[in-house]
Amino acid sequence: MTKVAIIGAGPCGLSMLRAFEQAEKKGEKIPEIICFDKQENWGGLWNYSWRTGSDQYGDPVPNSMYRYLWSNGPKECLEFADYSFDEHFGKPIPSFPPREVLYDYIIGRVKKGSLKDKVRFNTSVSSVVYNGNNFEVVSHDKKNNKFSKDNFDYVVVSSGHFSVPFIPEYPGMKSFPGRILHSHDFRDAEEFRGKNVIVLGSSYSAEDVALQCHKYGAKSVTIGYRNNPMGFKWPSGVKEVHYLDRLEENKAIFKDGHEQEADAIILCSGYLHHFPFLTEELKLKTRNRLYPPKLYKGVVWQDNHKLLYLGMQDQFHTFNMFDCQAWYARDVIMSKIKLPSKSEIEKDINKWVALEEKLENPEQMIDFQTEYTKELHELSNYPKIDFELIRKHFKEWEHHKVENIMTYRNKSFSSPVTGSVAPVHHTPWASAMDDTLKVFLDQPKK
Ligand SMILES: Cc1cc2nc3c(=O)[nH]c(=O)nc-3n(C[C@H](O)[C@H](O)[C@H](O)COP(=O)(O)OP(=O)(O)OC[C@H]3O[C@@H](n4cnc5c(N)ncnc54)[C@H](O)[C@@H]3O)c2cc1C
Ligand SMILES: NC(=O)c1ccc[n+]([C@@H]2O[C@H](COP(=O)([O-])OP(=O)(O)OC[C@H]3O[C@@H](n4cnc5c(N)ncnc54)[C@H](OP(=O)(O)O)[C@@H]3O)[C@@H](O)[C@H]2O)c1
Repeated sequence: MTKVAIIGAGPCGLSMLRAFEQAEKKGEKIPEIICFDKQENWGGLWNYSWRTGSDQYGDPVPNSMYRYLWSNGPKECLEFADYSFDEHFGKPIPSFPPREVLYDYIIGRVKKGSLKDKVRFNTSVSSVVYNGNNFEVVSHDKKNNKFSKDNFDYVVVSSGHFSVPFIPEYPGMKSFPGRILHSHDFRDAEEFRGKNVIVLGSSYSAEDVALQCHKYGAKSVTIGYRNNPMGFKWPSGVKEVHYLDRLEENKAIFKDGHEQEADAIILCSGYLHHFPFLTEELKLKTRNRLYPPKLYKGVVWQDNHKLLYLGMQDQFHTFNMFDCQAWYARDVIMSKIKLPSKSEIEKDINKWVALEEKLENPEQMIDFQTEYTKELHELSNYPKIDFELIRKHFKEWEHHKVENIMTYRNKSFSSPVTGSVAPVHHTPWASAMDDTLKVFLDQPKK
């Protein structure tokens, strides 16, 4: 019997488990599956942890999410085609849910059957070696401090790529008297109430960490971009300046001459694709981009088709793209999809990489990833979902952000699965301090 290892039970690993479950429900004989996750529960980054640094076993904490994190894109753009928000919550809910609400949705789809039995929790994969025939996978059961070696025909890497921070150094950091942290270790914006905060970076973490600190009472927030400013209309108390040059004691001095007293510096400088458990010839080496090279259809490792990666792209599309990848990966593993010749694979990868390298703005990037996801969707029997509506929503969402970065989360979108229109949330995001599931879902009756 074919044996498959899935490394990681975050959204991608769960998509993989779900894809196999759906085939089994249709009476197909599925492979034997073992999924490994180093955390004590499933859900990946969405399974919030207060911990930073190491866990109780000395293993690095993978989690990068914080209290009060809300979806930064409309939930309609990530909706599962086979499990709508309406089905899970029993009613339409607003378009930008907090983390706890999205976590509930992700887990709701997988918790009914017996999928959890396939996951070895608290178990970290420490080595994957291909011996020419199959993969030898060494895993560490952290709780019982026990190492095991198992052989697998296929390995699916779904270990995420927003867990290992990239941490640059700036002159003066060693003598800075305040706190320096990476966004990976940012947990609670209330810590920065009344403080002067410097945020370095110009992508989603920089944007949201800056807004979080502002929302929860920071005295000032100064964002230092490196290449291009985000350029939003920031609320008073938040400003964007050009790149940090150096720190002199508690003073941050920027390249454009701007000076700011600082209590804390939050590095929103991105993450590394990091796979210490893979041997060099199996290892994806890439920066955060929309089409990492050497992955056929963004999934199959070019040099060894028994190794598959999920979710390694930079992400506009998330959960339903992960599903399309997982359904495709399942069909490759179950030999329902035959891969083309080496030269066709190379040509296809090169085509996508070349297209990606020409992209100039967010609209083109949205189009690119929508086209990629649509193509993948055509290749499996993943249920119908309106990707054209999702494309339209993403572009509208970009416009909302440009119009007003403080209010874009108050907007409402329609579902690409059920067509239902989300209600407007009872409290605008900027003043919604309690984001528990109960309070969020408690829409007043009309
Ligand atoms: C701060 C932050 C906010 C985000 N917000 C959003 C959002 O609002 N909307 C959205 O759609 N996306 C968001 N994302 C993107 C996020 O990447 C995806 O939503 C999703 O979590 C990716 O799923 P994944 O399964 O690829 O990775 P992860 O969620 O990272 O899960 C990977 C899993 O692999 C496990 N693992 C790793 N290494 C090993 C190992 N060696 N052995 C065993 N297990 C291992 C980890 O424990 C983890 O459970 C956000 C990301 C970050 C960092
Ligand atoms: N739900 C939410 O609200 C939320 C919040 C946070 C994050 N997220 C998600 O988290 C994921 C990761 O986002 P991310 O912003 O952490 O990573 P990212 O999108 O990969 O961006 C990395 C950023 O680091 C900057 N950078 C790299 N090296 C630097 C250096 N030496 N000095 C200063 N800046 C440097 C880059 O700047 P250049 O552009 O100049 O290279 C870029 O702005 C995304 O999927 C995002 O959607 C979601």
